[in-house]
Amino acid sequence: MKAIGIPAGSSGHDAAALADLELAAPVARGQDILVSVQAVSVNPIDIKMRGARPQADGRPRILGWDAAGIVIDTGPEVTLFAPGDRVYYAGSITRTGSNAELHLADQRLVARMPASLDFAQAAALPVASLAAWEALFERMHISTTGSDAGKTLLVIGGAGGVGSMAIQLASIVGRLRVIATASRPASQAWCSELGAELIIDHRTDLVPQLAGKDIPGVDYILCLSDTDRYFSTMARLIKPHGHICALVESASPLPMNELRGKSASFSWEGMFTRSLHATPDMIEQHRILERVAALVDAGRLRSTTQVCLDGMTADNLRKAHALVEDGGVIGKVVLARQACASCSTTQILEN
Ligand SMILES: NC(=O)c1ccc[n+]([C@@H]2O[C@H](COP(=O)([O-])OP(=O)(O)OC[C@H]3O[C@@H](n4cnc5c(N)ncnc54)[C@H](OP(=O)(O)O)[C@@H]3O)[C@@H](O)[C@H]2O)c1
Repeated sequence: MKAIGIPAGSSGHDAAALADLELAAPVARGQDILVSVQAVSVNPIDIKMRGARPQADGRPRILGWDAAGIVIDTGPEVTLFAPGDRVYYAGSITRTGSNAELHLADQRLVARMPASLDFAQAAALPVASLAAWEALFERMHISTTGSDAGKTLLVIGGAGGVGSMAIQLASIVGRLRVIATASRPASQAWCSELGAELIIDHRTDLVPQLAGKDIPGVDYILCLSDTDRYFSTMARLIKPHGHICALVESASPLPMNELRGKSASFSWEGMFTRSLHATPDMIEQHRILERVAALVDAGRLRSTTQVCLDGMTADNLRKAHALVEDGGVIGKVVLARQACASCSTTQILEN
């Protein structure tokens, strides 16, 4: 099968290392489904994993942890899917990635993709939706039945992949009032379009900007950027008994005592925790993605694909990595076997 990856022994420091490769087709065993991958999206984790040390086992490294495709075979223990199902998933960071013609994923991490979307639109959703859902409704315990309606959430880094889903999920499922940070007119407009009531600029101090709007504090904060840089700002902005959730690892120990006087709590969210540790509730990712698909099909959530590169080739993957590495992505960057010409939000770049 065709795959795109970093050849054995090569450093992935530069995106130029990504190459078209020919590998043996994988075989579905146990709870695995074998998927014919139709579209993938690129996340910051791809950039981090690309730069990781080469494997000692002499095998090429295949990245990619956001896929949409068609089930073509199932392992003997699979009960949730059958060949022909159109699925989407993030999968596991411990396994070979989805930048390939064929890919294996544990059924407990997979769901049927929204019927109303094409593959290029669906591939944008898994990592960002799982991270946003787990952060909001599991780590910060925001109610999914409206008990927290009207409370305020600040999303730091609102226009990126995760922020785009967090704004939508918090306002539609949590019925929160969402404040998002964005620094450019295009990213600010995008956050408003997704449901943020107020946009502030992360290039300048957030505290006076909110004070200027008569908002001295917020109930919840989701930090999707530099945790070290924003920690003290978040400690100032969180309300007593509030909750902060961060997705980006800190470089230094965090000054937790700054939260003590307010009895505010802090959580990490890692959307690969369940698959990494094979937690007993791994199947929750199947359930979350099913709920997200139902919300999309009900017209309540939208896909966030903003750039779709036509063709799953090394050349396109290098372009996608460059866009994500640049740090200014709005929504998601996707590679598809067949770009979604019908998708009005999609910009098809020239090969
Ligand atoms: N722990 C997990 O489970 C998990 C899961 C997914 C992602 N992540 C991590 O979460 C982070 C966000 O992921 P993502 O996929 O949303 O990234 P992304 O799509 O690459 O984010 C791009 C956005 O970041 C914003 N941004 C740039 N500099 C910023 C700053 N100083 N402060 C606030 N926002 C800034 C930009 O907004 P403007 O253009 O408006 O400046 C841009 O729209 C990444 O570090 C990623 O590795 C963690």
